Amino acid sequence: MEELLKKELEELKRKNLYRERFIPEGLKVLCSNNYLNLSNRREVKEAAKKAIDIYGTGSGASQLVSGYTGLHRKVEKVLSRVKEIPACITVGSGYLANLAVITSLAGEGDVILSDRLNHASIVDGVRLSKADRFIYPHKDTEIVKSFLDKKRSKYKKCLIITDGVFSMDGDLAPLKELTEIAETYKCFLIVDDAHATGTVGISSLHFWKIEWKPFIVEVGTFSKALGSYGAYICASSTVIEFLINNARPVIFSTSLPPPALAAAKKGLEILKGEPQLIEKLQDLSRWVKNELKKLGWDLGITEYFTPIVPIMVYDEKRAMELRDYLLQKGYFVQAIRYPTVEKGKARLRLTITLEHSRQIYEDFLKVLNRTS
Ligand SMILES: Cc1ncc(COP(=O)(O)O)c(C=O)c1O
Repeated sequence: MEELLKKELEELKRKNLYRERFIPEGLKVLCSNNYLNLSNRREVKEAAKKAIDIYGTGSGASQLVSGYTGLHRKVEKVLSRVKEIPACITVGSGYLANLAVITSLAGEGDVILSDRLNHASIVDGVRLSKADRFIYPHKDTEIVKSFLDKKRSKYKKCLIITDGVFSMDGDLAPLKELTEIAETYKCFLIVDDAHATGTVGISSLHFWKIEWKPFIVEVGTFSKALGSYGAYICASSTVIEFLINNARPVIFSTSLPPPALAAAKKGLEILKGEPQLIEKLQDLSRWVKNELKKLGWDLGITEYFTPIVPIMVYDEKRAMELRDYLLQKGYFVQAIRYPTVEKGKARLRLTITLEHSRQIYEDFLKVLNRTS
């Protein structure tokens, strides 16, 4: 058995797809999702510490046993107010939140339409569900429409699911069109806002000025711009009630621990109260992307104001060489390869965060440019 595993690992190395972890101590980390640097904000840290003093370090059980505290309820209320969606529930992680929503809302006799570049947790949720699936070409709403025209009547429930901001490309889903389609064809629209919350605004729905309707479900994480850990699902109160009764990642997994919840709650309050943080992040992102473009780097299909910067390298080996060169120079920008992105679409995924000043990015660009 060991030999078989070793052989497979060797094969991964041969294909330049081998993965290893780095402890980025002493390095400038330019690939974190701590977009607004809230994880280092004094008030956020203090909220977490205070929650430990009041509630302890762990929650002790799932939400349906004894793991649903007053703090869980408070976070749901803040989410609901900030997101302007009637009901919310917290979940262990964004990965689990996608599994929860997809496997609960779609089963046998139903259909799921999912963007080809959706996050792996959506892909896994779709695979786990017993519903039929249609993986549509990236952002192609015409194909979504024509599929539903022909096939919608065959199915009971229908789910359209998309990242709000695509995690590896930094472009935006065509949410206005998808909302119209979902309404017309009576489908749920699930928006994964993991990378949209705190980067394009309060949410993708806010960014596109789309009024929430009962068929819309927003999934998001506390682990990126909100600087904490865990996730949430916001939807109609019926959908949330349904998830409490059906979602296995809610029923069979311990609820979020108090410090993570308290930090997320403070993060949400800061997000609502300080919109200038998002503006600052967008300005910095735009500036870095424009500089990279001027220097001749290929940024793929990215949108210039989002903080996700795909520096397209395409070749897996070259992506690793570039990452290793930057590591030697004191910068950590991880190489993203298959299966996170398609084969032959390797990239360095640089992210812009308020952790670093413009000067740090300026210095980084100079170092990067010596490699081109
Ligand atoms: C779009 C998207 N959805 C879900 C997740 C999973 O979130 P979490 O890290 O909280 O499990 C991620 C990132 O990790 C993501 O990029």
